[in-house]
Amino acid sequence: MSEIREISGPTPKRLERVGAHSHIRGLGVDENLRAKLVADGMVGQTRAREAAYLVVKMAKEGKLSGKGVLVAGPPGTGKTALAVGIARELGEDVPFIVLSGSEIYSAERRKTDVLMEAMRKAIGVRLHEMRKIYEGEVTKLDVRYASNPYNPYYQIPRSARITLETKKQSRTFEVGEGVAAQLVELGVREGDVIQIDAETGRVARVGRSSSSKELYEIETEKTVPKPDGDVMKEKEFIYTMTLYDLDELFARRRGSGIASLLFGFSAEKEISSEIRASVDEQVSEWVKEGRAEIIPGVLFIDDVHMMDIEALSFLARAMEGELVPIIVMATNRGITTIRGTDVKSPFGLPLDLLDRLVIITTDKYNEEEIREILKIRAAEEKIELEKEAFDSLVKIGAETSLRHAVQLLSMAGVRARSMSRDKVLPEDVEEVKKLYTDVKQAMEHLRKYESELLS
Ligand SMILES: Nc1ncnc2c1ncn2[C@@H]1O[C@H](COP(=O)(O)OP(=O)(O)OP(=O)(O)O)[C@@H](O)[C@H]1O
Ligand SMILES: [Mg+2]
Repeated sequence: MSEIREISGPTPKRLERVGAHSHIRGLGVDENLRAKLVADGMVGQTRAREAAYLVVKMAKEGKLSGKGVLVAGPPGTGKTALAVGIARELGEDVPFIVLSGSEIYSAERRKTDVLMEAMRKAIGVRLHEMRKIYEGEVTKLDVRYASNPYNPYYQIPRSARITLETKKQSRTFEVGEGVAAQLVELGVREGDVIQIDAETGRVARVGRSSSSKELYEIETEKTVPKPDGDVMKEKEFIYTMTLYDLDELFARRRGSGIASLLFGFSAEKEISSEIRASVDEQVSEWVKEGRAEIIPGVLFIDDVHMMDIEALSFLARAMEGELVPIIVMATNRGITTIRGTDVKSPFGLPLDLLDRLVIITTDKYNEEEIREILKIRAAEEKIELEKEAFDSLVKIGAETSLRHAVQLLSMAGVRARSMSRDKVLPEDVEEVKKLYTDVKQAMEHLRKYESELLS
């Protein structure tokens, strides 16, 4: 017999939108450290991918401490894509935090504080604890959505009804917004084995159930057995938080035990260096007791040349620390002035930082590679194109930039759909190309007005 029970959960975090790099599943490098031309959603750029793969290996063996990685190359050559590939190779619950070099400048906060926070968000702590949990294979899942109150075009999960099944019993639950949002965020679907903390509603995805009816022929993920016993049980619950999550919790409830850390709160609060120190101390104690493991993630700093000398020196010093993430930076500048000084330097970086960096360069793509990448993007966004339309996008990519072509592809897809067509025609590409200028055109456009204003 099924039964309905309420489980409430923590306040949902912000949901990530599908980005321009969602097609990237890894670096596409084999055991012999060779990059395949097309693999894991990655195309070409083989030398850079092989170098990045070595970085991942070193990181996994803990040999990257005190060092960082710099990806340097012209715009649209896949620097950000490479960083995403590194993150995917590191594993699912490894934090990946993106910061743009200019994001550290704000009126309210010191830039070093913003940097420190980003570094702590990029370090995961995997905790093990005995908890009362609901566990089972998801045999039915219905998520109900509602419009976001701040943006009616954006649907957010509001509640869900979920059936969990073990070898012994089946129970149906009504869950609130917090649990529903986590289910969506974790990509839980029917046939997955999951655990829900009974007290806090925190959700953990264990894996694909081996008894699931809907197993794909090639299942890339490891399968787990369908759980035994009751749906509700006392069991070791494993979940990952970041040092920053712990900082926030400690700021609110100083000195309380591990159990209280499971509660989620969302109010903002300043975090002092004492709090950070006590979190570090607590975490190292847990690690010694075998109740926690540290998972260094990736802090990716895009457009690192936007940072000034103060921020850059802070980074160089921070890399020496004990609890640091893998820092990957990207820039599309060559020799340029270090911001905040009048000194010119390679990539606009000071020498003490450069000394600590492994440098990977990326090169421009040829037309064939652009074609392959656009093909993958079209499949990812489920956009069908007529051959002629596709060819003209490839041409645009080769003439302007890959990034521009990727953007036009999505917009051409939207245009075709709004004309109730399931295929993109050459006219769609022509039309969006006319509507949206690339950088070069935009500059010329402004220059024209400039000269009119001055004359
Ligand atoms: N080798 C690749 N394989 C597959 N997709 C790629 C590859 N390189 C780039 N892309 C895709 O092409 C688009 C543009 O690349 P990306 O944004 O990574 O360039 P970038 O070097 O970071 O540019 P910028 O200097 O402007 O920041 C993205 O959608 C990216 O995912
Ligand atoms: Mg980029």
